[in-house]
Amino acid sequence: MAMAIGRESFFWHKLHSLSGIIPTGFYMLQHLTLNSFSIAGSEKFNGVIGFFASIPTHVLLALEIGVLGVPILFHGVYGLFITQRADINYTNPKYRFDRNRMFMLQRWSGVALFLLLIAHVTTTTVAAKTSGHTAIEFAAWHEKLTGHGYLILLLYAIGVLVASYHLAYGIWNFCIRWGIAISEVSQRRVQAFAFWFFIFVTLLGWGALAGFVVNKPTLSATEVVAMRL
Ligand code: HEM
Ligand code: HEM
Repeated sequence: MAMAIGRESFFWHKLHSLSGIIPTGFYMLQHLTLNSFSIAGSEKFNGVIGFFASIPTHVLLALEIGVLGVPILFHGVYGLFITQRADINYTNPKYRFDRNRMFMLQRWSGVALFLLLIAHVTTTTVAAKTSGHTAIEFAAWHEKLTGHGYLILLLYAIGVLVASYHLAYGIWNFCIRWGIAISEVSQRRVQAFAFWFFIFVTLLGWGALAGFVVNKPTLSATEVVAMRL
């Protein structure tokens, strides 16, 4: 089962594929759903942050590292390895098929996600652990997304779009790879599902972002953290 450097292995490729759905895909779906509490206002969103803050540190760390961190890191790093090996030939006019374009976008979206996630996790979870939860309370999001000439809001909106595309296309590919969609008809059905899923997840993430922008924080991030102590 050892993977020779420079050569893909069936086992690791299957594990990579699975790790895109479990836990990464499921995590993203629940993550955007919980973030969309911002639409209901600052107290509801801060309640979610407070819930995670109330989980004992050893349990939270075990979940963050074991259940989420390691699989995402594996998926990302092995994904870069697959991308670097892939023969992306869409630029050749002979190979300009829809499926080829989608294949190319899947690889590019993976590379973009890798960079976006490093920036995102550093400024959220890592910042919360090193400098306190003030970095991720509603007021901090409101300030971050409405400041800097809305540049960070734009980056997040693009990030959500890229992540949704990667996951939606991934579901379609996953169903084919694992023999869930074999016939032409079932592959078309999964493709239609993936399309609507892409629209739904994008709107969920954009809705969450809109919630942070439109609603005003009732308390500053420092006040929220102080009340929780
Ligand atoms: C609407 C856009 C998003 C917002 C507002 C948002 C918000 C947050 C917040 C508040 C945290 C810190 C959680 C905590 O430490 O308690 C976090 C962490 C994280 N986010 Fe996001 N996020 C967004 C989009 C995404 C997307 C699209 C992904 C892709 C899968 C993602 C992946 C992660 C990961 C992996 C972590 C680290 C989780 C951990 O270790 O606890 N986020 N995000
Ligand atoms: C961290 C950066 C990431 C990179 C570099 C990356 C890279 C890749 C690559 C190259 C593939 C295609 C594998 C193949 O067809 O051979 C893939 C598939 C997939 N990815 Fe990612 N990915 C990343 C993050 C994510 C995230 C955050 C999610 C979930 C939200 C995700 C979900 C999936 C799914 C569901 C598949 C389909 C699995 C399959 O092909 O059977 N990926 N990823």
